[in-house]
Amino acid sequence: MQFGRTTLSKFVIEHTRGQHSEMGALLIDVAAAVKTISALVGKGALSGYSGVLDSTNVQGEVQKKLDVLTNEALLRHCEWGGQLAGMASEEMDEPYRIPDQYPRGRYLLIFDPLDGSSNSDVNVSVGTIFSILQRETAGDAETADYLQPGDRQIAAGYAIYGPATMLVLTVGSGTHGFTLDRESGNFILTHPDIRVPEDTLEFAINTSNERFWEPPVQRYVAECKAGKTGIRGVDFNMRWIASMVAEVHRILMRGGIFMYPKDNKDPAKPGRLRLMYEANPMAMLIEQAGGAASTGRGRILGQQPESLHQRVPVLLGSKHEVERVERYHHEYDTGADRPFVSPLFAERSLFRSENTNFQ
Ligand code: F6P
Repeated sequence: MQFGRTTLSKFVIEHTRGQHSEMGALLIDVAAAVKTISALVGKGALSGYSGVLDSTNVQGEVQKKLDVLTNEALLRHCEWGGQLAGMASEEMDEPYRIPDQYPRGRYLLIFDPLDGSSNSDVNVSVGTIFSILQRETAGDAETADYLQPGDRQIAAGYAIYGPATMLVLTVGSGTHGFTLDRESGNFILTHPDIRVPEDTLEFAINTSNERFWEPPVQRYVAECKAGKTGIRGVDFNMRWIASMVAEVHRILMRGGIFMYPKDNKDPAKPGRLRLMYEANPMAMLIEQAGGAASTGRGRILGQQPESLHQRVPVLLGSKHEVERVERYHHEYDTGADRPFVSPLFAERSLFRSENTNFQ
């Protein structure tokens, strides 16, 4: 047992002194919920909670028992403390009203209680993602109070339930990682001030969607895949875990670029990931670690949400690669992208085909 290590409680008390001291208590409640979820998820099939329910969430996705239980865990751990004006979650159509018996505060907690939950049945890392905003006054929050751009987040974080449970957090001054010591029950600061390398040779994208992507993303991925034989002149590696938390965690640990771009698979959905409880908190963590997070056409944190559950294209990770994909979007939008140079495609750019549906 090592004494004198920095626990999460010590860290948040020290880093939220002054203007946001009440938020420290809220973060400690979030961490308590995360420990409950970690214990539940860690039991695997022994918990008796594997499998799906008859219900669907607001996204039309089938809810798993664990989605509902982990949502409950966050509500129960965080509703009582008097810091919150309300909570919103992927698993609830409307924001959650703090029960009458508890005091209200000025913070708003938004979360995805179990991101990548389809991975829990196959024992792959899953996670909880959260974002904290504030409103000017205390009292019950309306939906409109939540609709703030991500650059107004006061704090953001995720927990990853993998071989170790970790909580990665930003309160606006760097991104810091804490590992759960299962013997003492404390989160210990093990990864202070995480930095994302600016360059990378690793990309992550679901390539089964390739035919639905916009040309700038097709161009970027084709160049990565061409490796040494293409214009990049270097081989890239690819990863796809299908669990955003695990993907972002890998990028925070060793760099990389993660993309869930806009596609035309379902024109009603401009991307798969949700702005308020997936993209925004991850974008804040990545930016605070020196990386970049973009829709391809602008900073994720600059997007004005129109609804609680809206989706957004996401490109995030090592700065120079994200900037390159942004440049490809700009070049495509302005008609300035260079033709793809190949004897097979000598006539015109591969990436400006006439029949794309993105205008
Ligand atoms: O939110 C959904 C999520 O599970 C993310 O964690 C993950 O990045 C993505 O969906 C996986 O999508 P797909 O099933 O297309 O690979």
